[in-house]
Amino acid sequence: MRYHIWTIGCQMNVADSQKLAAGLDRLGWSEASAPEEADLVVLNTCAIRDHAEQRAIGKLGALKKLRGQGSEFKIAVMGCMVGLRADELERRFPFVDAFARPQQFAPIMEAIGYDDLGGEFWPGTFSQPDSVTAYVPIIHGCDKFCTYCIVPYRRGREVSRTIEDVRGEVEHLAGRGVREVTLLGQTVEAYGHDLPDAPDLGDLLRALHDIDGIARYRFLTSYPRDMTERIIDAVAELPKVCEYFNIPVQSGDNAVLDRMRRGYDIELYREKVDLIRRKIPDVAITTDIIVGFCGETDAEFRHTRDLVAELEFDKVHVAAYSPRPGTIAYRKLEDDVPQDVKMARFHAIEQLEAEISARINSRLLGAEVEVLVEGRKANSEGESMWYGRTRQNKLVHFRSGCGGLAAGDARVGDLATVRIERTSPWALVGVAARAAVLA
Ligand code: 5AD
Ligand code: SF4
Repeated sequence: MRYHIWTIGCQMNVADSQKLAAGLDRLGWSEASAPEEADLVVLNTCAIRDHAEQRAIGKLGALKKLRGQGSEFKIAVMGCMVGLRADELERRFPFVDAFARPQQFAPIMEAIGYDDLGGEFWPGTFSQPDSVTAYVPIIHGCDKFCTYCIVPYRRGREVSRTIEDVRGEVEHLAGRGVREVTLLGQTVEAYGHDLPDAPDLGDLLRALHDIDGIARYRFLTSYPRDMTERIIDAVAELPKVCEYFNIPVQSGDNAVLDRMRRGYDIELYREKVDLIRRKIPDVAITTDIIVGFCGETDAEFRHTRDLVAELEFDKVHVAAYSPRPGTIAYRKLEDDVPQDVKMARFHAIEQLEAEISARINSRLLGAEVEVLVEGRKANSEGESMWYGRTRQNKLVHFRSGCGGLAAGDARVGDLATVRIERTSPWALVGVAARAAVLA
């Protein structure tokens, strides 16, 4: 029996899909590269913006057609499109065999004949890595209820995994060649508050640090108010923890932050960024921004632009506000910023950020950086090059044994030292600078 899983959305969805795949593998199933070769097709969906939902709906239409042409696979929809009650989805898509909320795999398993796998089956199922980097969820759900966001309604309340459970999974991954682990949570610094003894993210990082084989740790996504000096100190002190933070600010204006109910003001956000940069000088900080939120005026938007210019993020993920049925903003605030204004603001932030990241990356010209080698692929000119990421999470393409250097060949999973020869806002290009790549 074969399965095909299609995934969109955040890293948590990628991790959930890998876990489902690992469970099916345990039951003797194998992966099919196309839906028409599969007995089960799973769409792991995202509901963060309307566009993501439309993509899944488009995919569902295509699957329905395929089945009409004689393919006999079962169809399951899982992830953030599935709410507490699936009746509306069932009415709209009667040909779907199972709807499953994020990480609630039971309806899918029942649809393919596994009614009771036992309470230990899923906790004992660890994802099989397909690369030298892996995602490990450490806290599920979100308690924050930002007014624009659907996530708490779909992923439920915050629930942390125990340190022993996370350690078990990381050891499993290390034994299968994984070199870099990214710990995941919607608000990752909330980790542990619901556990006995309330360990924090710093305690978890310390508890994982000695695992052989793992060279790097990262974590995603940060919530400014939950970020403590204790956690920042752990990142600064632990050599395997990368100098990289993704801290969504969402807006640079206090009135907008208030309407979003983000629970902090710009002064607090700035303090956190300053503290991180003081304690970890070569840190990279990225952020998320929503433009065109309900009632956002030109002046309020300018505050966001000014903040991006002031704080010089390494990267900004910008999105136009998309009203989500069921959220507080959908019920109580008016989506009154016209689409063309949203798009103009979106492009203004993107353009400003391209200039900023071009400037930040150009400072790396001639520098030697540590790259975890992830693989090899052809660049746009057809030349095959190694690729990987720096500790600051910047993508690097590089050649080995060129440029008159007696460089050895790189291997996937090595920590290579690469000298940067070219930079752009989005990536770096270089050459392996040493004969030996550091293992
Ligand atoms: N509209 C647009 N962007 C959103 N995000 C969350 N909800 C919405 C929404 N309704 C963005 C936030 C978050 C990122 C994952 O998606 O910036 O940090
Ligand atoms: Fe959504 Fe806010 Fe929770 Fe992030 S912190 S997942 S934006 S509710």
